[in-house]
Amino acid sequence: MAYSTKVVDRFEDVLNNPEKHAVGRFDPKDADVATGMTGAPACGDVMKLQLKLDKNEKIVDVKFKTYGCGSAIASSTMFVEMLKGKTVAEAQLIKDKDIAAALELPPIKLHCSVLAEASIKDALKNWDSKREEFIGSSDSMIGHNNPPAGLLQIEEPTTTVEI
Ligand code: FES
Repeated sequence: MAYSTKVVDRFEDVLNNPEKHAVGRFDPKDADVATGMTGAPACGDVMKLQLKLDKNEKIVDVKFKTYGCGSAIASSTMFVEMLKGKTVAEAQLIKDKDIAAALELPPIKLHCSVLAEASIKDALKNWDSKREEFIGSSDSMIGHNNPPAGLLQIEEPTTTVEI
């Protein structure tokens, strides 16, 4: 199995300059910090993702720690870049396949990008439990309550009647 140049370059750059790639942590007790952690059942690797949010629920900074293979670490840093500046609603639209495509992950390593998508789901669950304290409103942008303009898709219910 050959890694793409993108994975190798990114992985080596993270090892040489972890701060540049947002490796680290925020205090999980801070009101504006959401924390998510997930493990990959296939291999036991783990990613911890932390988002720092502003009052408009925009992701102003991100930190992560990943215990895993080169693909998982490269995927983590790619995901961090994709998340910065997004709202929580926009962040939910980033999928593991987007990360895998950006890094040209080989098929056998596709599961390594799943950690990133799973960790944002976990972080946003954590955010949902903290946001009211931080923002002072119970209206959630998570889920279907407040999708960003142009992203709302409504599926018509289908009913089948047999006579
Ligand atoms: Fe476990 Fe890549 S082999 S995340």
